[in-house]
Amino acid sequence: MDKLDQMLHTAAAMVAPGKGILAIDESTGTIKKRFDSVGIESTEENRRDYRQTLLSAPNLGDYISGAILFDETLRQKTPEGKPLVELMKEQGIIPGIKVDKGAHPLAGFEGEKVTEGLDGLRDRLQEYYDLGARFAKWRAVITIGENIPSQTCIDANCHALARYAALCQEAGLVPMVEPEVLMDGDHDIETAYEITELTLKTLFNHLYEHNIILEGTILKTSMVVPGKDSGQDVSVEDVAEATLACLSNTVPATLAGIVFLSGGQSEIEATEHLNAMNQMGPLPWPLSFSYGRALQESALKVWAANPKGNITKAQQELLHRARMNSLATKGEYNLKAESDA
Ligand code: 13P
Repeated sequence: MDKLDQMLHTAAAMVAPGKGILAIDESTGTIKKRFDSVGIESTEENRRDYRQTLLSAPNLGDYISGAILFDETLRQKTPEGKPLVELMKEQGIIPGIKVDKGAHPLAGFEGEKVTEGLDGLRDRLQEYYDLGARFAKWRAVITIGENIPSQTCIDANCHALARYAALCQEAGLVPMVEPEVLMDGDHDIETAYEITELTLKTLFNHLYEHNIILEGTILKTSMVVPGKDSGQDVSVEDVAEATLACLSNTVPATLAGIVFLSGGQSEIEATEHLNAMNQMGPLPWPLSFSYGRALQESALKVWAANPKGNITKAQQELLHRARMNSLATKGEYNLKAESDA
């Protein structure tokens, strides 16, 4: 298989029926926050033990097609000396890598951010490919607030996403382009719709201008939800309808697939929303998940209560969420499945 065929094959496998992505690519700062919240010290060994626990959950590959790693994890080995990447391959889980260098203040635009990391990216992608990664993620952050986001911020972020995507495809890696419209704030769902639509329209214009092969690209996006502090009462169907309308208006049908981030939704909310959307099909693209918190929250709590003794229990928590979300990709999730476990 040449690199182009391999990339198309990887993209299709990432969103194969009933499967989604596990996001465990928290940067050193973010994983420290998550560990702090459960009273675990963020050492390299603890981070390895935790992520090894997740990746070695028995038959995780039945529900999880790929996992996004942070640079450190891609290089880590089990105490017995087996690279975590090998462990993933044995599970049939495709290794992915977060390649952006984080969102930094956009000069001249108070309260807005632009994601950095393009300098030297070509060489880093080559190394990541050699280490076994087959897809790469870049996260852009769009904040809703008074008079923001600006078109300048959206353009700057989408331009960077397109340049990163082109470099990925040159290296044979599937780009997972992630423009996250944050849930922070008191905006209503109508505003979230408007900003998400504008962001996605801008993104696909830039991807087109940079000759990105959409069949070899995955979109990782936020759902259209009201701001956390809006107090607006919306139903699962409202979120599903608004999100699908937004995606239908902006995302070409040739795209390999769409996966969602959870962005602060609870585990159950994230599953319910995905399920409702897949019940509204048929859809032009596979619609799946790439959750971080909404797959890990329960597992992290259980693991942290006894890191050496609760390995199996933590794995069961992860497997349960993975299976529930797998059902949601087929529109087959329900409360009975949730409580049977
Ligand atoms: P959450 O699902 O916790 O939002 O994380 C997904 C992710 O990868 C954000 O970049």
